[in-house]
Amino acid sequence: MPIVDMKDMLQHAYEHNYAVGAFEVVSLSFLDGIMSAAEKARAPVILSLAESHLEQFDFDLIMPAVEAAARRAHVPVALHFDHGTCLDSAINGINRGCNGVLVDLSHLDFSENTRLTKEIVKTMHGCGVSVEGELGYVPGTEGEGAEIYPGELAYTSLAEAKAYVERTGIDFLAVSIGTVHGRMKGKPKLDYTRLKQINEALNMPLVVHGGSGLSDDQYRRLIANGITKINYYTAMSDIAAKQINNNARSATSHSYASIMKDINKAVGDEVERCLRLWGTAGRAAEVLAQCQPWNPVEHVIIYNVDHLNTQGIERMMSEGKRVLSQIPGVREVITGEALKRDAAYRYSWIVRFCHPAVIDSYREHPAHVAFADNLFRPVATKRISIDYQEKLQSPPIASYSQPQRRVIPS
Ligand code: 13P
Repeated sequence: MPIVDMKDMLQHAYEHNYAVGAFEVVSLSFLDGIMSAAEKARAPVILSLAESHLEQFDFDLIMPAVEAAARRAHVPVALHFDHGTCLDSAINGINRGCNGVLVDLSHLDFSENTRLTKEIVKTMHGCGVSVEGELGYVPGTEGEGAEIYPGELAYTSLAEAKAYVERTGIDFLAVSIGTVHGRMKGKPKLDYTRLKQINEALNMPLVVHGGSGLSDDQYRRLIANGITKINYYTAMSDIAAKQINNNARSATSHSYASIMKDINKAVGDEVERCLRLWGTAGRAAEVLAQCQPWNPVEHVIIYNVDHLNTQGIERMMSEGKRVLSQIPGVREVITGEALKRDAAYRYSWIVRFCHPAVIDSYREHPAHVAFADNLFRPVATKRISIDYQEKLQSPPIASYSQPQRRVIPS
């Protein structure tokens, strides 16, 4: 069960002065390492999927694994879609299972960033999804060296931050206060005065991007000044790469398994270090108790059809599947036909919504209205429609023990 509302999760962290790691997932080894560390440290965690990493994996294939790992966890998990480029990519992110998004428009001027972010917030809040906005510019490329820094760092301005939050309605603000994405040259200098002023003015969870490579003291000062979500990738990527290089040098066999051995453990050790340093360790039970669970809704319709032959019914169903699947917050559309020909209702739709909020936004969405009014209701004269929500119990945290790992010989 433990996918939880991201806003609730970060609000808890904000009120209790710790930060949740948003760890980027780029492979199953990363996923396994992050989740094992969170379970070991009894820590809430955010699994983050970045649009900029989509060339490394197939998003449609990795998301079921990410969601399954979160659902079977004993610690609270939120699923973040990171650095989306536009509203459509954010919709794709939530329709695949994410429950928090950042569409990064920080490269645009203030008014354009504000205008577009406001539209994104409207759509995402209509689906119950939390929204992070970013203001100021954090340069760099996750996982890469300091020389690959497109653009100049631009600090978040206090006045703009206040106006941006007020006008857009975002839930969390990502600030630029001196960090960069990727490996930094030298020691980063952070502007704590600016951060403190923004925190005091906004009183809301703040996010830092480019979380790798800071000192223990820098993390403590960031958290003391409102940083509640730390985005983290480059350090894990470097550690995984080092593990692979060591394996290649030391392994007696050069099989794929021996070269890829223990990446999950190396990533997990680094994540666990962060969870303990950032005050996240040991918080799982209280976060679970205080957060709304993130459970999908099944919008079920059973119906009979008049005035259409079999081909017409199939065409209507496949058109419905095509248009309804693209509506924000729709996870899946399943059409069915009763096995018994004399069933009281011959056909079914099951439309899976990511959150109860989608019941209303889906009903009013123009694509749904057009399909329902023109193609469905005129022929589906007898029908019943009910929304169901799965009742999922969270597994007891105290009784959890780590699964045994299979040892791969080198
Ligand atoms: P690092 O790769 O520098 O840790 O930054 C990650 C990040 O900010 C992802 O959004």
